[in-house]
Amino acid sequence: MHKARLRKLKRAKFRHKLFTTGPNKLTRGKLFKKHFDQSIQVNEFSIHSPKWPESFNGLRIAHVSDFHLGDLMPLERALDIVALIEKQEPDLIACTGDIVDLHPCHVRELMDALASVPTTYGTYAVLGNHDELDRPQAIVDAGLDAGIHVLQDATCTIHRGEEVLRIAGIGWAKTEKQCEQKVEHTCTNETHLLLSHNPKAFGAAQAHSIPLTLSGHTHGGQIALPKKKRINLAAAHKYTEGLYQSGSSNLFVTVGVGAWFPLRINCPAEIAMLTVQS
Ligand SMILES: [Fe+2]
Repeated sequence: MHKARLRKLKRAKFRHKLFTTGPNKLTRGKLFKKHFDQSIQVNEFSIHSPKWPESFNGLRIAHVSDFHLGDLMPLERALDIVALIEKQEPDLIACTGDIVDLHPCHVRELMDALASVPTTYGTYAVLGNHDELDRPQAIVDAGLDAGIHVLQDATCTIHRGEEVLRIAGIGWAKTEKQCEQKVEHTCTNETHLLLSHNPKAFGAAQAHSIPLTLSGHTHGGQIALPKKKRINLAAAHKYTEGLYQSGSSNLFVTVGVGAWFPLRINCPAEIAMLTVQS
């Protein structure tokens, strides 16, 4: 493994001990139990853009992000979430990264389950920073083998009648500049839907007037003020949760279904059901 990646993995494992497994041991397992008792919400949002193709008016996207498959997201819980997605009968599933927390264990089972949800247009995914920690190619391969469109700086199109919806996805990019470079490389002014784990891609998406960008990464801070979800622990981020609009471009940042530490206060995990109108 590359030395820099190994260092990142070591740091992530240390954080995991410090904020997750350590405190759980101190509370004799109560912390995990309380975390697992929290339910996953299904939240509905309506999104409008004049640039969205008319034939895809009313498209229902299940936006799911940040599973963090691992100690805080056992496979059974992840499969329950997939079952909940299936109940919503989405037209398309968008998974915006951090599929695993540290290692790609059980990722094949999760990818197979996501791919088996009946949808009109299939499942699309990008990788997040946690997916990059240990064997990201194993996650890409698991997705591709399952039939998921894993868009690592790549695009694809879906068709309805004579119209086309152009989907792009970028791999993990940390800074706004890095996001911009990837968006420049991957998207055009004709792109309709962009998946990017990092919401910092929204600036570049606006430059291309991309109607809808879907992101995760922030977890909505996991801890927020009551009734003021945007005042949260993800204060270092400009876009932390929910819907942002600028001109004909929209950004939706989901707070995700998983967690990187076992606490969520005023920021429940969610599956976001997005209905996109032209
Ligand atoms: Fe995450």
